[in-house]
Amino acid sequence: MTTRPDTVFRSFESPKLTLPNRIVMAPMTRAKAIGGVSGEDVATYYARRAAAGVGLIVTEGTWIEHPAASNEVNVPRFYGDDALAGWRAVVEAVHAEGGKIAPQLWHVGLSQKSDVENLYSSQFERDVPPLTPSGFIRAGDKVAEPSDPSDIESAVAAYGKAARTARELGFDALELHGAHGYAIDQFFWHETNHRSDEWGGRTLGQRARFGVEVVRACRREAGEDFPIIFRFSQWKLQDYEARLANTPEELGTLLQALCEAGVDIFHASQRRFWEPAFAGSDLNLAGWAQRLTGKPAISVGSVGLSTDLLDALVDGQSAEVTDVEALVQRMEADEFDLIAVGRALIADAEWPQKLRQDRLQDAVPYNKESLITLD
Ligand code: FNR
Repeated sequence: MTTRPDTVFRSFESPKLTLPNRIVMAPMTRAKAIGGVSGEDVATYYARRAAAGVGLIVTEGTWIEHPAASNEVNVPRFYGDDALAGWRAVVEAVHAEGGKIAPQLWHVGLSQKSDVENLYSSQFERDVPPLTPSGFIRAGDKVAEPSDPSDIESAVAAYGKAARTARELGFDALELHGAHGYAIDQFFWHETNHRSDEWGGRTLGQRARFGVEVVRACRREAGEDFPIIFRFSQWKLQDYEARLANTPEELGTLLQALCEAGVDIFHASQRRFWEPAFAGSDLNLAGWAQRLTGKPAISVGSVGLSTDLLDALVDGQSAEVTDVEALVQRMEADEFDLIAVGRALIADAEWPQKLRQDRLQDAVPYNKESLITLD
């Protein structure tokens, strides 16, 4: 089977962002930024992917400046002179290879590390009240007091400040982490947001408020022309089968509100890009985002991985890299605009080049050892 890579290597043009091709590096935490500062090894890691032809790199999640944003010390901060100097060097290294790069702005909300020793540790040990709409990790597990409106507002302001920083550091865009059951998603999701004030409500449209205010703050601080990407998902780390929206109409109320606030591109996180988002249609989640909003959409999920890896996001056995025929067909049909690649790009920095040259059979397969070093 031919992979017809030309489809993936068409340029992408949108009002605020132009890219040489359709490949995006998915945001992936590596926890190699010692003390929260990205070092030279991190800059080299991203620059290698840019050199191999990734159109847009979305960095690992990076902490906004809010007391309860973080839960891991070696994940990069997006504040403090030391961390920002590290990020500036990352941006320069990627630009020197002709690449483009967006930071993924992250707040964990009510921290949900699954490993018992770390459970809620950094927030609770430091005695920092978590940011949480109602104190739930999921319905039934109330572990904290709901945040005061003033704390919610200070988190919104911290996102805005980070957006300004992204622009000042020379990033090409920013991505908001609104997925996977972290802070923004905790406000969206009915199981974690039981509030009845203006930060919650019974409908997804009402629970959109925190995300909307975050986007507005970023738009205000980064300027009209700065591209804002918004990542969202149905699945949560708390529950892979969870659903944010049960129907396209319900999803539409959320995405349209985010668009009005200033989102330019949606990044619809799925674990498998070929899975239909709603019954009755083959469209995936990015396909629906594109149709419901008219904005470009990034898809993601298990590109270049073999089937024995599909049930494990991080662990897994060594495997052969699959062909990307299904992906190409969907891109040819304009279901979505861009494709993010995660684990395949951790395992092999040259994955885009190998795809272009039709020699994916030579790509280094992803396995759990791939995460040990930052090659
Ligand atoms: C992730 N993922 C992720 N997502 C996100 O929005 N922010 C993040 O910081 C991380 N961190 C992260 C670390 C590691 C090691 C993995 C494997 C994944 C999810 C990631 O962006 C992507 O959506 C999934 O990995 C699915 O894409 P692939 O790997 O199947 O191409």
